[in-house]
Amino acid sequence: MTAQQIAIEPALLFDPERIVWPANWAGHVPFAAWLIAHQKPAMLVELGTHNGFSYSAFCQAVQEAQLATRCYAIDTWEGDDHSGYYGEHIYQDIKAWHDARFAGFSELRRTTFDQAVAEFADGSIDLLHIDGLHTYEAVKHDFDTWRAKLSSRAIVLFHDTDVKQHDFGVWRFWEELTAHYPHLHFTHCNGLGVLLYGNEQPVALTALHAQFQQDPNSLQRLFAQLGERIELSAYSRELERQRDEAVELKTAMEHQRNNLDHQLQQLQQLHQQQEQLHQQQEQLHQQQYHQQQEALADASQQAERQQQELDTQNAHMEALLQSKSWRLTSPLRQLAKWVR
Ligand SMILES: C[S@@+](CC[C@H](N)C(=O)[O-])C[C@H]1O[C@@H](n2cnc3c(N)ncnc32)[C@H](O)[C@@H]1O
Repeated sequence: MTAQQIAIEPALLFDPERIVWPANWAGHVPFAAWLIAHQKPAMLVELGTHNGFSYSAFCQAVQEAQLATRCYAIDTWEGDDHSGYYGEHIYQDIKAWHDARFAGFSELRRTTFDQAVAEFADGSIDLLHIDGLHTYEAVKHDFDTWRAKLSSRAIVLFHDTDVKQHDFGVWRFWEELTAHYPHLHFTHCNGLGVLLYGNEQPVALTALHAQFQQDPNSLQRLFAQLGERIELSAYSRELERQRDEAVELKTAMEHQRNNLDHQLQQLQQLHQQQEQLHQQQEQLHQQQYHQQQEALADASQQAERQQQELDTQNAHMEALLQSKSWRLTSPLRQLAKWVR
């Protein structure tokens, strides 16, 4: 089989219904749909589901291929150091989506990978997707814990095999595994490692593997370009969401600005009223001052008049005392005193 021999089939042009953000897995959806259609797993388990981008694509692919696959998604839905720690709404959102569409053949198990492993029989899982914490130690631990559950036709998918920053270590563990197992590797969308773990692989998978060994670039480019369609769709939806959010924010800000303008007008009116009151108070003070001044002037004039009258009376009295008759009658007044 060559890259040109891969049939143009519906699985390659698969359209995922659930397109959410973050969409780190978007570019691998066409390969996932192709894989499900050709591997026809009896049991599929995903370790690390988060918002359900990859898991919903797996389930939708199972439905579209009309398979009898049992599917399980395992996650605490709390987050981790690499995905970040997120809120309850993430679980509620994927649960509502999942239960409405896939409840007949799929389950969401809200627990840790280590707690869930005992619930699966050895040799039962055909397709295992490991996408939990991405340190070397975590991914190795997840693989080592779950490998006994893998069937003789098992395939294990590892996401983020091409991320080499911080303490991401899937790439290192992937390098170790690829020395021992047949595999395919896609480098787009953070990398997807496809480990052909079981030694009884379906013909389509062994053929694809042979082609990959012969011409990895063609297959990588084919699936990268098919994946880009989904990535672009996810980006465009996210941009639309951000635009809607920005419009909502703008409307809210305009509303707030109108409120502030209204409050400002009220404040200005209050300020004007206060100014008017202040002026009225000033006028009142002025009037009172003038009235008091006038009353003071009146009182002072009256006092002056009374003083003048007093002076006049004193002058009369003095004149009287100095008069001739007064002096002549003085002995009589002395006599009157003695008689008394
Ligand atoms: C990278 S995200 C999964 C991304 C997802 N496959 C997608 O399509 O976008 C990793 C998830 O693994 C979960 N996780 C990490 N370690 C876990 C553990 N030991 N047990 C259960 N869940 C775990 C986190 O809660 C997080 O939701």
